[in-house]
Amino acid sequence: MNITLYGSTPATTLVTADSVLQGDKMHVLVTGGAGFIGSHVVALHLARGDQVHVVDDLSTGVRANLLEYEGSPNFRFDEADILTWGRLDRAVAWADRIYHLAAVVGVYRVLAEPTKVLATNIAGCERLLRAAHDGGWKPQIVIASSSEVYGHNNEEVLHEDQDLSVSTRAGTRWGYSVSKIADEALGLSYAQRFGIPAVIARFFNTIGPRQVGRYGMVVPRFVAQAVADEPITVFGGGQQTRSFCDARDTVVALDALASRIGADTQVVNVGNDREISILELAELVIARAGSHSEIKHVALQEAYGENFEDIRRRRPALDKLRALTGFKHQYTLERTIDELIAIERQRHPKKERDGYRPLVRPESQCAA
Ligand SMILES: NC(=O)c1ccc[n+]([C@@H]2O[C@H](COP(=O)([O-])OP(=O)(O)OC[C@H]3O[C@@H](n4cnc5c(N)ncnc54)[C@H](O)[C@@H]3O)[C@@H](O)[C@H]2O)c1
Repeated sequence: MNITLYGSTPATTLVTADSVLQGDKMHVLVTGGAGFIGSHVVALHLARGDQVHVVDDLSTGVRANLLEYEGSPNFRFDEADILTWGRLDRAVAWADRIYHLAAVVGVYRVLAEPTKVLATNIAGCERLLRAAHDGGWKPQIVIASSSEVYGHNNEEVLHEDQDLSVSTRAGTRWGYSVSKIADEALGLSYAQRFGIPAVIARFFNTIGPRQVGRYGMVVPRFVAQAVADEPITVFGGGQQTRSFCDARDTVVALDALASRIGADTQVVNVGNDREISILELAELVIARAGSHSEIKHVALQEAYGENFEDIRRRRPALDKLRALTGFKHQYTLERTIDELIAIERQRHPKKERDGYRPLVRPESQCAA
């Protein structure tokens, strides 16, 4: 334990847009902070001198993602399940801002543990909001939603005010969309009824260092396959499109939104609006890695073990994000891919020397 985060009197200050914009140091609680996006949130706030408390059950996150912060006097980690964590009330009382990222994520986990998806994703969010309400606290809560709430909507761009949908064509994965729609409804209800401010962020595909391919993410898988000169497995024809945003851009956008919105509540798309087909993505990764990989198409059913239709396109409208924050991306897709290739090469230098071939499970190119 590095720091006394809770005094006898909770150090809660109601965050206003002004206080955040003036650069006051904040108390930041991050659920799911040992995960991919969470670890970038932690990095951003610790770099700014804020105090950060992470709770994570390490179901998909890993302690190694936070290793470099372990010695920091401003950092604290609790390994616990958000559904049963005994310190939740005190942590919520302490926090000025809460990033609620803890969730069952990734196509393989969603398919393997459908009941857990609903329990964790809905009840976890509800428990957090109820703790704020019961204590009479009004921290800003950033709720991680997902582009999956747009279902099989194939509009050219997806706007926040479009209808949400759940498609049975998504196989049993639709439980994940339902859980994220429920989280949005919870956030909006607590905001309207009890005045608890929320940023409801609909993440589109997010990529970057520390993301793993194990649970169903396409970019880490393509990078690992390209660096190993393995065939790149594209599910279906590869014409489906996605838009990829670097997590380091994502967390800056989240912080900017929370700072601007202050005590208000908004639902906002967070992502990058450059659209690319999965086939083009595979070709891009091969080219950037100078790889000898070939592209191998795998039937969707073979990849996922059940019959469902992949989402055809995913491109966020970012007008609202830009209007609220003036946000500009710092990371191009090429820049992120180059970094991921360099990291993968460092992690597996043997691959370059003697053609080492790891076993790579098929994973998804779907949004989480
Ligand atoms: N990465 C994406 O492209 C993407 C897209 C849309 C939405 N999201 C959302 O963003 C959030 C973060 O996703 P990520 O990509 O960083 O995934 P991740 O799996 O790396 O992070 C989720 C974290 O939550 C933790 N967790 C899970 N259940 C928990 C529980 N019951 N109690 C405490 N901790 C728990 C996991 O151990 C993990 O560290 C999730 O809510 C996800 O639904 C991500």
